[in-house]
Amino acid sequence: MDVDLIKVVNKLQETFSSIGGETVDLPQCVVVGAQSSGKSSVLETIVGRDFLPRGNGIVTRRPLVLQLVHVPAPASNAGPASASSSSASSSSSSPSPADPFGSSINSGGGRGGGTPAYTEYGEFLHLDKRFTDFGEIRREIENETFRVAGQNKGVSKLPIHLKIYSPHVLNLTLVDLPGLTKIPVGDQPSDIERQIHGLVSSYISKPNCIIIAVSPANVDLANSDSLKLARAIDPQGRRTIGVLTKLDLMDNGTHALDILTGRVYPLKLGFIGVVNRSQQDINGNVSMLAARKAEEDFFRSHVAYRNIAHRCGTKYLAKTLNQVLMAHIRDKLPDMKARLNTLMGQTQQELASFGDTAFLGHQHRGSLVLKLMTQFARDFVASIDGKTFDIST
Ligand code: GDP
Ligand code: NA
Ligand code: MG
Repeated sequence: MDVDLIKVVNKLQETFSSIGGETVDLPQCVVVGAQSSGKSSVLETIVGRDFLPRGNGIVTRRPLVLQLVHVPAPASNAGPASASSSSASSSSSSPSPADPFGSSINSGGGRGGGTPAYTEYGEFLHLDKRFTDFGEIRREIENETFRVAGQNKGVSKLPIHLKIYSPHVLNLTLVDLPGLTKIPVGDQPSDIERQIHGLVSSYISKPNCIIIAVSPANVDLANSDSLKLARAIDPQGRRTIGVLTKLDLMDNGTHALDILTGRVYPLKLGFIGVVNRSQQDINGNVSMLAARKAEEDFFRSHVAYRNIAHRCGTKYLAKTLNQVLMAHIRDKLPDMKARLNTLMGQTQQELASFGDTAFLGHQHRGSLVLKLMTQFARDFVASIDGKTFDIST
């Protein structure tokens, strides 16, 4: 049973911030992997927009801390027509109007129609400007990378902070990182391996971090740098999701079924195979929707994968991430409920001491708090506690 994760989280955050409590703290999702394993590509498909620089060799040279910020959709004028204008105004390889965020973690529902372009935009911490064109966001990331990390393959640990505001996202942070590498090139220092290792470790060491460990399927898993590093930091494999990219590039006659079914390497959250856009697809501006369709066809028609096609691909990865976040919220819920009960008791006492007049003024804090809490309790605690919160698909 699907629950609308966006709605649940936003309601929780709204309620708790209005009563002055701390809000539910969602884990950061961080992509880890060797250079050109497909990290940026994976992150991009999770968000469902084209906006990250991708390519062979070292492209991501500074951490990108991507904060997704939920903004309410405007009440009116949210038809498909405005959705296509939103897409048309973004980059040339923008996603389909019908499914602008279809692959995203936020695909939990509540997406009846599209949204006018102005509701979806990006902002950088280093720049006082609103970007509604996602192609322009990519160019700004490139410029900012060059500005700080230089022209010649240098890497900087100084992060770029980007916020994306949209009605279709959760309040969630995703982090794109430079790839693990061994041999210095260009302006890279001789200890580049150690430096990037340290940089990546500093992000994934936070216990509240979900590690998206990317390995390319055309390289032996035994040599996977991402799994090596993830294992060192999360030895039980509890908060690591394995992602196998480039399944389309494996040698003829070979496949990765054993890895995808968990018989090779143990991870509690499992391995998910994906096929991202190739460099040729990127150069030819293949749309996200077309790429998704090709990916689905790949798994459905492949002799080795067709029986597990329903748990392969970008869409399934997004769904899994969604479930991991839900499980996280469920873990936090008992604490939040206890806190809420205490507050409710206090407020009721406070109200009783005010008498009936407390309910007259809308401005009155007490009645507002009570109203919010009652709403919260009615709408969410019951449903989240019950069967509708079953995350086992
Ligand atoms: P990163 O360095 O790990 O961030 O990797 P990128 O996302 O920049 O991808 C590196 C190159 O690999 C790009 O040219 C992508 O088009 C290509 N690539 C990534 N994933 C796949 C995939 O699943 N299949 C194919 N054929 N190419 C991919
Ligand atoms: Na790359
Ligand atoms: Mg990258």
